[in-house]
Amino acid sequence: MNGLRDHEFLYVQKRNDRTKAGIEKTVYGQLPDGQTADLYTLHNAAGMTASITNYGGIIVSLTTPDRNGKFEDVTLGMDSLAGYVKGTPYFGALIGRYGNRIAKGKFTLDGKTYTLVTNNFGNHLHGGTKGFDKVLWTATPVEGDEPALKLTYTSKDGEEGYPGNLSVQVTYTLQKDNALKIDYQATTDKPTVVNLTNHTYFNLAGGAKRDILDHVVTLYADKFIPIDQTLIPTGKLQPVAGTPFDFTKPTVVGTRINDSTDTQIKYGGGYDHGWVLNGTGDSLKLAATVYEPTSGRVMEVRTDQPAVQFYTGNFLDGSVTGREGFPYKKRYALCLETEHYPDSPNQPNFPTTVLKPGETYKTTTVYQFSSKKE
Ligand code: BGC
Repeated sequence: MNGLRDHEFLYVQKRNDRTKAGIEKTVYGQLPDGQTADLYTLHNAAGMTASITNYGGIIVSLTTPDRNGKFEDVTLGMDSLAGYVKGTPYFGALIGRYGNRIAKGKFTLDGKTYTLVTNNFGNHLHGGTKGFDKVLWTATPVEGDEPALKLTYTSKDGEEGYPGNLSVQVTYTLQKDNALKIDYQATTDKPTVVNLTNHTYFNLAGGAKRDILDHVVTLYADKFIPIDQTLIPTGKLQPVAGTPFDFTKPTVVGTRINDSTDTQIKYGGGYDHGWVLNGTGDSLKLAATVYEPTSGRVMEVRTDQPAVQFYTGNFLDGSVTGREGFPYKKRYALCLETEHYPDSPNQPNFPTTVLKPGETYKTTTVYQFSSKKE
């Protein structure tokens, strides 16, 4: 398939040859319907790896160096395909058609009301019960110094309740500079709504063996999107200044995460909100910087999207056993999901997420890794 036979290596002769860029493909496993999912490991010349399966477009692992050059996985994930099929809270997955929530699973477009699958306290979350995180994508590895994996999927008219046949293409590129770039593209044959993202859970300490409360986060956002008890936006934006949501300067995550005097913290069970990114236009802008002091790892997130959902793993409760049989507990990871505002299809004051025939939805997010001494 795609010119790459199972276990065949492009450029790399051995798995431990970290001097050359390339892609390795292996069979990952069989899905309940008999289809086979593959695992592609992208290597760059600097030694960073990104392992991605075409099941859900899931980033299964991402190894990045600490300040001593030690490579460790900085994501939460499972040991096998079966673990993902059994169910995770979207570890590493591509999310669509609509990342985040749509209130009561309903929206009206051109006078017609559409009813979506509801899967989160009466609301629609992350594309429904079988979103893009649970479908098998067609994968095409792209050779080069910056290896890439192109994933395509056609979502049928009516899937999970959405109108229009939607053709989606997502390309993961492992850049020379230890950045993973994600390019999203989609077209439709009927007016519809689209909001694609990736749901990787990060713990920059490596191995996800403890919580992320010591991570230092900067969000380049002066406003955030307040929510109600069901995590649906109220429709108004609020300045972060003077609130526990102010991450405009590097801030230790744990400092105010339990400030129960703040209603928004209470509703989110911590941070589970959209931040409105400063700056406008379609160019890539810095959305977030994360620093983990024990390892020295740094992650910078750049995007052309208007918002980022900062989620601190508040719903993790140890019930999902991840890699090496390790239970992922509350706040063992953080997510930075670049996207449009939640519930935009029902919020006339939010930037539009409507995609019409003849238009191309196009967006890019880059997660770049480095380290610093202290
Ligand atoms: C949402 C959380 C949700 C998590 C996993 C995040 O994007 O904001 O509320 O629990 O995804 O589903």
